[in-house]
Amino acid sequence: MPFKSTHRVRNISIAIAVIAVIAVASGLIAYFVTRENKSAPSPSPSPHPTPQNPNLHKSFWGINYTPLNSQYPACGSKQQDITEDIKVLAQLTPRLRLYGMDCQQAEFTLQAIKDLKVDIKVILTIWVDNNSTTYQRQSADLFSTIQKFGPDQIYAVSVGNEAFFRKEITHEDLYARIADVRQKLKGMGYEIPVTTSDLGSIYNPELISHLDLSMANIHPYFAGTLVSDAANWTFSYFQQNIVQPSQGKQSVISEVGWPTKGDPDRGAVASVPNLQYFVDSFLCEANRRKVPYFWFEAIDGPWKTQQFTVLEGNWGLLTTDRQPKVKIPNCPVA
Ligand SMILES: *[C@@H]1O[C@H](CO)[C@@H](O)[C@H](O)[C@H]1NC(C)=O
Ligand SMILES: *[C@@H]1O[C@H](CO)[C@@H](O)[C@H](O)[C@H]1NC(C)=O
Ligand SMILES: *[C@@H]1O[C@H](CO)[C@@H](O)[C@H](O)[C@H]1NC(C)=O
Repeated sequence: MPFKSTHRVRNISIAIAVIAVIAVASGLIAYFVTRENKSAPSPSPSPHPTPQNPNLHKSFWGINYTPLNSQYPACGSKQQDITEDIKVLAQLTPRLRLYGMDCQQAEFTLQAIKDLKVDIKVILTIWVDNNSTTYQRQSADLFSTIQKFGPDQIYAVSVGNEAFFRKEITHEDLYARIADVRQKLKGMGYEIPVTTSDLGSIYNPELISHLDLSMANIHPYFAGTLVSDAANWTFSYFQQNIVQPSQGKQSVISEVGWPTKGDPDRGAVASVPNLQYFVDSFLCEANRRKVPYFWFEAIDGPWKTQQFTVLEGNWGLLTTDRQPKVKIPNCPVA
């Protein structure tokens, strides 16, 4: 029914409307001012933007990263060291993959990403070995870290790396852990993909059926290929052994790289020129083909030379003082 208004009624209505508009506007201003104050960034450890090295390019789809001194129980890694690493790695890649939770490595990495305001997605790993206390300690760390930082920078969670290859867990036990982690993340309200990574040769449809994405370590070096064949060998191995059996499930090369020092493996020879050759022949071609991969690895690991072999310790793209060993091609990835 039409409202029959008088001038007086209309004037009162206008006055009320004006007051309401002013009230809402000041409310909004107050809200935004307090919100601004509340979300004001805490004093940043580096108020100046990170100087960009013109020789670095964001041409790696992903990079594997083990911070120095993150081996339990010795643990000597510090926030500051990891932040310095991330300043360099953020100029090379939008994705990192960690190997474990110990020594606060995941927390320090996510904190560095936050402080530096760089958009890096991370695969977190619960390291799996033959000691169940390792799993308990690291899975507790995983959930508290995700609780603290939220899911936005987490690309996936990996339960173990090469644990089947080392024969440190049965298939049934690893599948149970993967299901348990997936369940708990869902319980927290997060749809984060859960997976494991292992050698390409260990992949089969049964393993793949337990994973949200297929992640295999594919090393032309350990296949003994000549460096001149390494890129082609990697692409065809990945296609045949991981992509095809995954039947549309996302497939990722969780490790691919080339060492610069150590014993040769048949035709494969470790050297800086060969790393350069492999970077040049693999990187931009993989990006062009949209093959997702994590380069192995960010930084040399002197602790691996001590604990294992010279070869194991010398896969870094960067030296321990964060200098690139080779020229980085410029073929940016998103
Ligand atoms: C656990 O694994 C380590 C390293 O692979 C090995 O040295 C050790 O003998 C294993 N222990 C058991 C109980 O299987
Ligand atoms: C398992 O790891 C814990 C913590 O590092 C250690 O105390 C314990 O001795 C280990 N157990 C075995 C059987 O190696
Ligand atoms: C890979 O193989 C193709 C054809 O088989 C060849 O044209 C190309 O040069 C090879 N690439 C490398 C890096 O060997």
